[in-house]
Amino acid sequence: MLFQLRLLAYRLIKPFMWPVSRVVAIPRPTLFVGPGSAQRLCVSIGQFGFRRVMIVTDAVLVKLGLVEPLRIALQAEGIDVAIHDGITPDPTYPVLQAGYEAVKAHRSDAILAVGGGSAIDAAKVIGAMAVTGKSPAKLVGMLKVSKPMLPLFAIPTTAGTGSEVTVAAVVTDPVQHSKSAVIDPKLVPLAAALDAQLMRGMPKPITAATGMDALTHAVEAYLNRWPHAETAQHCTAAVRMIFGNLQRAYDDGSDLAAREAMALASFYAGLAFTKAYVGYVHAFSHKIGGMYGVPHGLANAITLPYVLDFLKDAPLARQRLAELALVIGAGTEGEPEAVLAQRFVERVRELNRGVGIPEKIAALKSGDIQEVARAAMVEAARDYPVPKSMTLEQSQALLQRLQA
Ligand SMILES: NC(=O)c1ccc[n+]([C@@H]2O[C@H](COP(=O)([O-])OP(=O)(O)OC[C@H]3O[C@@H](n4cnc5c(N)ncnc54)[C@H](O)[C@@H]3O)[C@@H](O)[C@H]2O)c1
Ligand SMILES: [Fe+2]
Repeated sequence: MLFQLRLLAYRLIKPFMWPVSRVVAIPRPTLFVGPGSAQRLCVSIGQFGFRRVMIVTDAVLVKLGLVEPLRIALQAEGIDVAIHDGITPDPTYPVLQAGYEAVKAHRSDAILAVGGGSAIDAAKVIGAMAVTGKSPAKLVGMLKVSKPMLPLFAIPTTAGTGSEVTVAAVVTDPVQHSKSAVIDPKLVPLAAALDAQLMRGMPKPITAATGMDALTHAVEAYLNRWPHAETAQHCTAAVRMIFGNLQRAYDDGSDLAAREAMALASFYAGLAFTKAYVGYVHAFSHKIGGMYGVPHGLANAITLPYVLDFLKDAPLARQRLAELALVIGAGTEGEPEAVLAQRFVERVRELNRGVGIPEKIAALKSGDIQEVARAAMVEAARDYPVPKSMTLEQSQALLQRLQA
């Protein structure tokens, strides 16, 4: 009963968030795109006048040799460079604390994040910790970064999260097994480079999962309730580009045109959801990721068609799913909306199959379904303007279908 009242309160308050999210200005990073753009970004960091730069990254990328050319490019600008390669997937509070201490010891005046969403998110939070002195737990929530950020630059090496353009950073509490977001426009990097050459060696499972994360951002933002004229273009561009390029990038990782299209699609989807939010897919996958360590993109990819099956009966969602079917050429104008909407969901399933995504979440245990359902219900009711609300029973039934 109390739980139901809590959900109701969130749902009643949410419409008042819309004007707030219209008023808060969201900056956009200057964007460098194309082969060599990562090097050009390094030159630009020197032109900004920064003299002590910390590269925040992970050990895998250092080992792959992706970081050394960037260190050399920064040094060529006369910058004192240090590398902190201690970021691990889904960065936890201790991982962030270690990064913060490295930045403090180096007395960095700017941060360059090199990596996937985990490295970029970690760099955002480390930068916020450096200026506010707050712990990651104290930064979780909306608008908690009380001072201008340590200047941040980003070079994504996956094409999925769009973190290089978003107001969000996702952090993991290793004790509670939960993921939460730090959300603040100050987290948006000053500039970013989309350089497909750095994505060439991305393994197939990571290419698939991160690409489907980008698709989930675009689709969830497109279906959401609040008016979204300015984001709709970014959503449809991202959906079109992902359906046109993810399979290609997966089949041939060295296809740089497909890699670059995926990087741009991920950026557009990030631009869209940073204004229009995500939905139930993310609400489920944050809890599933926190509990079992299932990679974020993989959890989203598996969950997306199940949530779309649930949403497609709501008039607004059905109409928008039908529009997306037309965007990817899965039908013709004049066909019934319900048919088009169903076809779009089928195309999502086909794309998942094509890039080796399983249909079920193997880690999900029956005994945990109640907890996952409740956490997802709270997150969605509190944070996302979803086009149709789920009951707790519907949410549990969906999770049962997701089980292997
Ligand atoms: N800030 C946001 O707006 C936002 C949005 C969505 C997701 N996220 C968060 O981002 C994190 C996931 O990020 P991700 O999906 O990009 O994965 P990731 O950053 O966790 O990286 C996954 C693995 O891929 C490896 N990798 C990355 N690039 C590679 C490359 N080019 N070649 C070879 N290996 C490479 C990494 O070393 C790592 O082992 C999650 O914590 C998720 O919750 C944040
Ligand atoms: Fe995501």
